[in-house]
Amino acid sequence: MAAYEYETHDYDVVVVGAGGAGLRATLGMAEQGLRTACISKVFPTRSHTVAAQGGIAASLSNMGPDHWQWHMYDTVKGSDWLGDTDAMEYLAREAPKAVYELEHYGVPFSRTEEGRIYQRPFGGHTTEFGEGPPVQRTCAAADRTGHAILHTLYGQSLKNNAEFYIEYFAIDLLMDENGQCRGVLCWQLDTGEMHVFNAKMVVLATGGYGRAYFSATSAHTCTGDGGGMIARAGLPLQDMEFVQFHPTGIYGSGCLITEGARGEGGYLTNSEGERFMERYAPTYKDLASRDVVSRCMTMEIREGRGVGEGKDHIHLHLNHLPPETLAERLPGISESARIFAGVDLTKEPIPVLPTVHYNMGGIPTNYWGEVLSPTEDDPDRLAPGLMAVGEAGCASVHGANRLGSNSLIDLVVFGRAAAIRAGQVVEADSSVPQAPQAAIEAAFDRFDGIRNANGAVPTADLRLEMQRTMQADAAVFRTDKTLAEGVQKMQGVASKMADVKVTDRSLVWNSDLMETLELTNLMPNALATVISAEARKESRGAHAHEDYPDRDDKNWRRHSLTWFDSDDKATLGFRPVHLDPLTTEGEGGIDLKKIAPKARVY
Ligand code: FUM
Repeated sequence: MAAYEYETHDYDVVVVGAGGAGLRATLGMAEQGLRTACISKVFPTRSHTVAAQGGIAASLSNMGPDHWQWHMYDTVKGSDWLGDTDAMEYLAREAPKAVYELEHYGVPFSRTEEGRIYQRPFGGHTTEFGEGPPVQRTCAAADRTGHAILHTLYGQSLKNNAEFYIEYFAIDLLMDENGQCRGVLCWQLDTGEMHVFNAKMVVLATGGYGRAYFSATSAHTCTGDGGGMIARAGLPLQDMEFVQFHPTGIYGSGCLITEGARGEGGYLTNSEGERFMERYAPTYKDLASRDVVSRCMTMEIREGRGVGEGKDHIHLHLNHLPPETLAERLPGISESARIFAGVDLTKEPIPVLPTVHYNMGGIPTNYWGEVLSPTEDDPDRLAPGLMAVGEAGCASVHGANRLGSNSLIDLVVFGRAAAIRAGQVVEADSSVPQAPQAAIEAAFDRFDGIRNANGAVPTADLRLEMQRTMQADAAVFRTDKTLAEGVQKMQGVASKMADVKVTDRSLVWNSDLMETLELTNLMPNALATVISAEARKESRGAHAHEDYPDRDDKNWRRHSLTWFDSDDKATLGFRPVHLDPLTTEGEGGIDLKKIAPKARVY
């Protein structure tokens, strides 16, 4: 074994990641008296949730009639019938409770005249099971909702004695010979010290892998670390072909302009000044779901109606809205538009382009956040000792496409669910089993191998090659040809990991080493994305396959699974979608006829 000294810590629960899901799980665990550690590679309030702008969906009915069943219906339709029905029911039913809890913890939501939580319209959220007008369901703290939630949850977690290990990088899960997770090996970035965390339950809340692409709204820290650790532990990733492009990333920088901008009355135009969404989605127009709007924008550009010198982007107008509305409801994007596009949005349109924003796929879990290790005989078999929540996980509530503002609610509903479940399955008073020595040694050996990697390819060059390949070959529109090329190229890129070069060998603030470790996490996420996309011969949600333009429920209403055999070789499998809700109609549940598959039009 590579010779490293390390400190050992024992906890009931270790949460890896301190974004909205990680902090909500941490808080819920600590509130129940579980000894809880939260490990984060960045300061908690700098986690990517801080960038979430528009809001959090819950059927509070503060602005007009709403119902959890309408929210569930919209989520089912948004997912293009790939989401798990039980999980989607749990999300929509628990959402109001989870938001009121946030309010009571102290989240400073924007308010209506009557003092209720302010809610705005968002794409794909409707009334009357998609038959009525758009609903105002998205609860907002101006356009800084994630920021408000993150600060509140961090404060509450500290108040409840959760222990934080900040600027610690999780290297690998420590699994025993029976496939039970026993802990995690971490590197303390500021001192170079190494740490073994033993735990009865490890919760992965590491966020998405947007940085597998060249242009993304995601922070540079969104490197799919949980997915990477899961792949190395021999567990599968689910539905990785479904990557969401947000319609309004700022052209050039990719910085997010919230969908709340269209919720407040903004609209898109092409080079002819036409509000083209009226043609494609006559009912909900600019408030159709994201995959639909992104595809329409791409079609306008392809057909020569893009704006700008290169005719390669679209205009988002807010300049018709009263400046007071912009100042009160959208202060953050007013600033982003000025800094990143040089635009005064009270006077001019913002140049925008669909930009990678969210990963619907991730680590398969049930709706309690327990990680699955599916077999053919038991597609819902549990991987003991492991949970995954937030964008890292795949419960699956978003299926093939997520609705805007269903991400923040996913974070808090499932972070909370994981804590409730841990309260039932983790014994607080027993001693903490120690991670096996063999697992610790294997994790150190991998770390040491990367630290001393002396190949020919610098990390930054290999990362760029991966990002450009993903951007070109796993894009908004896909074909058999681009996907086959994508698989081949990505396998070539992944195989170069063996030839990577790390120049700095120190252990203190070594960003070269950290970025290389992150690249080892991005790589399986990226490869799983193209491999599962190449396999899926239909169009569904964010997977728009030009050679198979229709959804094919008979053959493809199933989750894809990708297991890694080596750095560049994977095995594909599938598991059935959960079709049964948690409650029947007689028990106050949804009428299954209401959510039966049909054509998805907005
Ligand atoms: O547009 C936005 O504010 C993003 C929200 C989301 O992804 O849920």
